[in-house]
Order: sequence, then structure tokens, then C-alpha cells
Amino acid sequence: MADRGSLKIVNVVGGRPNFVKIAPILDAMTKVPTIRPLLVHTGQHYDHAMSRAFFEDLEIPEPDCFLGVGSGTHAEQTARVMVEFEKVLEKERPDLVLVVGDVNSTLACALVAAKQIVPIAHVEAGLRSFDRTMPEEINRTLTDHLSDYCFTTSEDANDNLRREGIPEGRIHFVGNVMIDTLRKYEPAARKKRTAEAFGLTPQGYAVLTLHRPSNVDDPKTFGLLLDSLEEILRKVPVVFPIHPRSRRRVTEFGFDARIAALDRLRLCQPLGYLAFLSLMLDSRFVMTDSGGIQEETTVLGIPCLTLRENTERPVTVRLGTNVVVGTRRERIVSEALRLLGEGDRRRAAPPLWDGQAAPRILEVLRRHPAADGSAR
Ligand code: UD1
Repeated sequence: MADRGSLKIVNVVGGRPNFVKIAPILDAMTKVPTIRPLLVHTGQHYDHAMSRAFFEDLEIPEPDCFLGVGSGTHAEQTARVMVEFEKVLEKERPDLVLVVGDVNSTLACALVAAKQIVPIAHVEAGLRSFDRTMPEEINRTLTDHLSDYCFTTSEDANDNLRREGIPEGRIHFVGNVMIDTLRKYEPAARKKRTAEAFGLTPQGYAVLTLHRPSNVDDPKTFGLLLDSLEEILRKVPVVFPIHPRSRRRVTEFGFDARIAALDRLRLCQPLGYLAFLSLMLDSRFVMTDSGGIQEETTVLGIPCLTLRENTERPVTVRLGTNVVVGTRRERIVSEALRLLGEGDRRRAAPPLWDGQAAPRILEVLRRHPAADGSAR
């Protein structure tokens, strides 16, 4: 990217949901002449389907720097990102580091920046599931407390930060950048007709995604979720783009034959952004343990069953189509059957989920002391 401004911002991405969030932010940054954005990809996600496909669909510029950290235990992955990112900061000496979401790369880079006394902006701050067994809960809580700018998506998030003693001046309620991306690409996704490629008709199928460690790393829970799936498949075909973590567990837990026997199940590789959005748009309902999908279905008016005991996104339950059903068969199946009957398809627009979150973030950042050159 061109060397043309006085506020140098290192933007960090690592995993699939990060790409969806950074796209509109980078786009907005390139429109501010005083800002010079750099993009660092840690390489936490590296498969074509988990990374490259999103850069292509979302027109994200090539990263200026790729750290290539790959997979590992939490400590290994976090440590590798930290070691490599420290070198980037020493070389680039940015005025600000911007991190998004709650993956291991988010916390790792925030920690390095804090120790180098580089100001940090955290996009999607303040979300809390209040479940410390989730790695993401640790990542987002610590990142918020290291950040100088906490950009939030909802009033709940603002309240969570206030309760934890984050000063009011650091909290900026800007809306949801994921929805900026959704609004921009919905027309293109509508033309994709992913359902047709699976031999399915609009409204004639459901979609499933699963990747949370609490769901797929425990054979008992994963097995119970498959019991529910078997029952739902008797009523409706289900498309299941399977995350690499879950794919590995299927084999490890000996579920391959069981899954192969489910003839109305369409198991496939993870899909790109546009193909998956198209699949959701034409579906009857979605079952997921993802955070972002709860938000997207709310805005699209697609019924969503969240296969977890809690959500860090309560606004999607209060205003949207989301129902948190847990992982027990009776509840999942009865809610799915209800949705096949009718199901609420009203589109909801939580406050500031209007496609303008990234420009609002830039309105705040352009007032950063270095932005007028005075701090240099
Ligand atoms: C990570 C995030 C999670 C996010 C999710 C989206 C953390 C703690 N978790 O979980 O918040 O919702 O990304 O997908 O950061 N793998 C591949 N190819 C890839 C990436 C991963 O094969 O491109 C496999 C590896 O075997 C790896 C496993 O998937 O061990 C899990 O990847 P990892 O990055 O550790 O966490 P996710 O489950 O993807």
C-alpha cells in the first residue's frame, strides 16, 4: 500500500471471521488520505477455503506481511504469533495496531503491541458469554483491557465494558462491521444459487455449521449433536460445510461411517463467503455454533438455532431470529420442527447495524493524535 499518510496503522487478521470484519475497515482506511494502513496476516488459518477464498470474495488487498504461524496448541499458536508480530512492530513502528474479533491472533498481537507501548484498537469489543471455558472469552476480555479504543457493536457490549471498569472515553459504539460486509455483498451472493449446485430448492433445506471445541472436541457432545441431526434429516435435507477441526474429529471419533449413512446430508468443504451467504439466504433455517452467523441471520431474517448453552450476542436473541437451544436433542429437534412449520423471517436491524460501522470507526481514528502529524 502507498506511503502517503501520517497515521500508520497495522491491521491484524488471523482466522476466517477476521477477514469478513477487516474488509470494510481497510476499504474505509484507503479513503482517508492521512491514514496509511498495513495488513498483517498471521496465518492462523491457511487452507484455501479458510483464508484465500475470503480475500478473493471480499476483495481484500494482499497482506503486506504473512507470518505463517499455522496450527498448534493455544500456547504454541499464541506464542508463535507473538514472536513473529514483535518483529513486525519493531520494523514498522506503527502509530496504532488494530485487531478484530476474538481469535488467538487477536490477543497475541494485542499483547505484543501493549508491551511495545503501541496504542491498540479492538473492533467488536465488549462481547461476553460469561463462559470462561471458551478460549474466545479469554481472548476478547484480555484484548479489551489492553485496548485504547474499544469499538462496540451493541449497548450490551458497552455495559459489559463499563461494568469491568473500562473508562467511558475508550468505548465507542460504532455498530457492526460484519454487517457492512453483508450489505455490500448480499446482491452478489443472491446471484450465486449455491442451493442449486447441491440439487436443492430455495426453502427446501437447512444449513449446519459446527466448530466450537465444546461441541466437536468431546465425542459425547458431538455424538449427541449427530443424534439430533439424524432426526432432523428425516424431515429436511441439511447442508453441512464442515470446518477442518470438525472434519478431523469425525475421523478421530470413528463417526465417518455414521455420517456417510445419512443420505439426505450434504457434507462439503468450507464454502467461500459469497457461496455460503447464498446458501443461508435460500435456506429454511440455520443451525450453528458460530458467533458471526447469529448476527448475519438476524439481519437477513433467517431463523437461527444456536447450538450452545449461551451467546455473547444477546441482541440477536432479543431483536433477531436467534434461539439459543443448547446441545440437547429434545430441544434442538422440537425447535427445528417448529421452524419447518412457520418460523419468524422478519429482518431485524439492531441499532447501528446499518452498513456504516467502518466509516464510524474511521471518524474516531482520524482524531488520533498522530493523524495530524503532530505526534511525529
Ligand atoms: C478459530 C477461533 C474461533 C473462530 C474460528 C473460525 C481461536 C481460539 N479460535 O477456531 O474463535 O470462531 O477460528 O473458524 O482462535 N485448520 C486447518 N486449516 C486451517 C485452519 C485450521 O486444517 O486453515 C485445522 C487445524 O487442524 C487446527 C484446527 O483446524 O488445529 C483448528 O484451528 P484453530 O485456528 O486452532 O481454531 P479454530 O477451531 O479454527
